[in-house]
Amino acid sequence: MNDESKKEIKNKMDQLVKQLKQYEYEYYALEEPTVSDYEYDQLLNQLKKYENNFPEFIRFDSPTKRVGGFISEKFNKVKHKIPMLSLSNAFDENDLIKFDTDIKKELGISDIEYVVEPKIDGLSISLIYKNKFFYKAITRGDGLTGEDVTENVKTIRTIPLTIDYDGELEIRGEIFLDKESFQKINNDPNTVKKFANARNAASGSLRNLDTTVTANRNLKGFFYYVPENEKINLSKQFDILKWLDSQRILRSKDIVKCKDIFEVLDRVKYLTENRNNFDYDIDGIVIKVNNVSFYEELGYTSKFPKWAIAYKFPANVKESILKSIDVTVGRTGRINFIANIDPIELDGSVISKATLHNAEYIYEKDIRINDVVQIYKAGDIIPKILGSKLENRDENSIKWIKPTHCPSCNSLLKQFENEVDQYCINKNCHEKIIQQITHFCSRDAMNIDGVSESIIRKLYENNLIKDISDIYLLKDKKEEILSKDLLIKDKSFNNIIKAIEKSKQNSLEKLIFGLGIKHVGYTAARLLCRRFKTLQNIAQLTKDEIQEVAEIGDKMAESIIEWFSNSNNIELVAKLLSYSINMTYIDEYANVNVKDENLIFMNKSFVITGSFNDNRNTIKNILESVYHAKVSGTITKNTDYLITGKNATQSKVDKANTLKIKIVSEEFWK
Ligand code: IVH
Repeated sequence: MNDESKKEIKNKMDQLVKQLKQYEYEYYALEEPTVSDYEYDQLLNQLKKYENNFPEFIRFDSPTKRVGGFISEKFNKVKHKIPMLSLSNAFDENDLIKFDTDIKKELGISDIEYVVEPKIDGLSISLIYKNKFFYKAITRGDGLTGEDVTENVKTIRTIPLTIDYDGELEIRGEIFLDKESFQKINNDPNTVKKFANARNAASGSLRNLDTTVTANRNLKGFFYYVPENEKINLSKQFDILKWLDSQRILRSKDIVKCKDIFEVLDRVKYLTENRNNFDYDIDGIVIKVNNVSFYEELGYTSKFPKWAIAYKFPANVKESILKSIDVTVGRTGRINFIANIDPIELDGSVISKATLHNAEYIYEKDIRINDVVQIYKAGDIIPKILGSKLENRDENSIKWIKPTHCPSCNSLLKQFENEVDQYCINKNCHEKIIQQITHFCSRDAMNIDGVSESIIRKLYENNLIKDISDIYLLKDKKEEILSKDLLIKDKSFNNIIKAIEKSKQNSLEKLIFGLGIKHVGYTAARLLCRRFKTLQNIAQLTKDEIQEVAEIGDKMAESIIEWFSNSNNIELVAKLLSYSINMTYIDEYANVNVKDENLIFMNKSFVITGSFNDNRNTIKNILESVYHAKVSGTITKNTDYLITGKNATQSKVDKANTLKIKIVSEEFWK
């Protein structure tokens, strides 16, 4: 075949791809097909024939690539270039008004436009396009690292495989199943295990190792965020959404722009009233500042951006029958109460258990077995019991009596003065120990991958571990573990040991958090470590010394002292030390030296305004770690310096001048 006719064939194939893509867009995205399925299939078959004969001309964005057929062993982990944050919540109008007031105060301006979007109840996804082509799709994961689901996302026909952008561009949104597609999956006789709600079904469909399954589930993607918006030269969220339209990247059509917070409130009211009338599940409303160039200035906490907020719908309350109350013990010894109820459907999932805070709560509300109880989801996740419907009570109701002994070890429970909770104070309580070891291995603590609560339980029940430190002796017990019927195989054993060994190098704050000292959370552990560096140092501190860390109060300081004066704990630390567990704080900024001329900034208190070459969190971390500085959001008479970058907030500069606070504009911390 001569070059001329080959060129013709390639042209023909390109033409077919273009035509089919247009039909797919009309069918899947616009849901307004202009041709019959028959016509579409004819064209697709033509293309398939050409592709068989001329594989060298198969295009990356050919519709034939959307059918799946890719099977992977596992999803690879990928680090996000920019962390995928979550949103802080608003529960009523006041929270929204406060959100608006805080923003105006921070920016020092009085007119703020917002964009109001439905909060889609799906799975966050990050798409990366490179030189016009779809390149990668990564799930949210823990926000820092996600899973590579590129092959799966490629089968979602509403997501274009090409866009008009040269270079690399990240686009974030949500993958979900509309209500109709969800019902179809659950009603399909081939679906062996029914999904509790559309979100779970979407998750199971997207994160499937066989992409043919993903391809057949009719997943959709709505997109709402371009983190590096400057790349497309747009500075308003509403314009970015329109740009997405121009790229045929789908987004919710129920998004509006509001000129002020009052318009936002009207829209929130409307969406709340109509929350069940969407084709897809929504679990709230997202309110965002429209002007994206304010985002850096408004900044971020470690978890949330301050330029957006998620309004949560008031909880739905449903009724069921309380069948029984389970009593369990947690790692601190605290006793938990869990209600078993007749299963009901609530906010899209079937629930059969709910939390009852403590025994006092049950008594106070006079909740009895066989009562009709009211249930709601707190923060949309954990179901809670609101109370009993007394008017429905009959002779079947049985008064519940609070436990006096631990459900695991049967020792007498203790209730401390001024506390409503009951505690098991037996240090040898098996369940407590299992929970303590589980906490030690958890992600924010020693992050030992693969060591789940169920594995720990099996190891403990088989006498293979007795306390936290025994985790580090497991490597010598391979034969014994594999010989017992613990469902731990050779390969997973090796992975577990690898993870255990790796944890020995963790920075100290992870260990301290993992030890489970009462009241000491991860942040407090990090602050302690930053200041006092080693476990040996921390163990010897007096209460006053501990409280030199501004954020640490009386109760926590006392608890730390108490923990280190207990001989069992000292023994535990000694054992961990002998297994070479790192007990020093590993400071990522250790190699950054403070120049002589910058020594004046040591131990000072800073407020930052404007944008810089580094992001705010990096600057804050360097100031705190290297300069032992305090960084806060508002200027007070105790502020030493105001650091100003590009577009600094005028009201902050004015306040600094009034209070005679020094203003620095150079990026001295580098
Ligand atoms: S904006 C920096 N907009 O809700 C955070 N999120 O609870 C940018 N979500 O992780 C997120 N609909 O997965 C945004 N219209 C919407 C959303 C939305 C759903 C999800 C998203 C996010 C979570 C936060």
